[in-house]
Amino acid sequence: MHCLSRSGSRLLREPVAPVLKLLLARCQMTDNSPLDFAQLAIERYQAFKRSSPFAIHCEEYSLLKSIGNSLAGCQVLDLGCGWGCYTRKLAELAPAAIVATDASGDAISLAKVYNNGSSLVEYRVEDCAELPDRNRFDLIVANFLLPFNANVDLLRRTCANIYAALRPGGRLVGFLPNCFQGVDFSREMVGRQVNGIYEVPANPVDGSEINLVLFTSPTETRIPLRWYHRETYRTALLDAGFEASKLRLEKPEVSPAGQAMFEPGFWDSIVGQPAALLMNATK
Ligand SMILES: C[S@@+](CC[C@H](N)C(=O)[O-])C[C@H]1O[C@@H](n2cnc3c(N)ncnc32)[C@H](O)[C@@H]1O
Repeated sequence: MHCLSRSGSRLLREPVAPVLKLLLARCQMTDNSPLDFAQLAIERYQAFKRSSPFAIHCEEYSLLKSIGNSLAGCQVLDLGCGWGCYTRKLAELAPAAIVATDASGDAISLAKVYNNGSSLVEYRVEDCAELPDRNRFDLIVANFLLPFNANVDLLRRTCANIYAALRPGGRLVGFLPNCFQGVDFSREMVGRQVNGIYEVPANPVDGSEINLVLFTSPTETRIPLRWYHRETYRTALLDAGFEASKLRLEKPEVSPAGQAMFEPGFWDSIVGQPAALLMNATK
């Protein structure tokens, strides 16, 4: 990475919960982003992320491990930042600057609250298919963003934008659903580990509508997104300019704390056939 200088770490506080409901009342999405995430309650997604063994012990652990202990001097982009859970973690790694973008104005409002107005972060309401930056970032985090592109053309455009926005040597990381024909996302296979499932139609093709079903209380929450074969993601990234030798779709790891917390065998199904893969690409 091309990192320039070190800035001090930030003390970030939890947001005030009642603000969240107000922020979810409206949703601003751009023309290129018909998949309406904020309307489907970021509040519930927050609760899910804090209760899902997979999100805590595989996703967050593997993503942060892959990013490393310090981002000193780095220019960082959190693309599709949602309510900013990773924006906040990235800020703790003391980069030179963070840009956090999301197509949803509600998500950005929430991220601002959650990150306690950190001056390190520049927030932008922006569609990932319209990302304007060129040769700027040392690290782009696009975590569970790409399946929100409504079709293959937009997916390819987003990947091209990401490549263009990275500096040479810069890195892209983030999770993708691990989709292929015959993949088993059933309750038996991933339900308990994820605290949710993907609801996928029979014989999905690239762009098929699927739901991320969160086992929230009192009712389940369905978040619509798109099914893309894992090879479609890989091809879109290669066509964007990433070299095959510098592009990996990796199985996530379970943290030692996660291993210790659950009974033997708990993680077997999800490690054997991960519900999501960690994309790791260097320009
Ligand atoms: C599943 S959430 C992930 C949020 C965050 N990256 C995380 O890991 O917690 C997906 C986010 O992508 C945003 N999103 C969906 N389509 C988008 C688009 N076309 N451009 C930018 N953001 C988009 C949604 O508003 C939502 O906040």
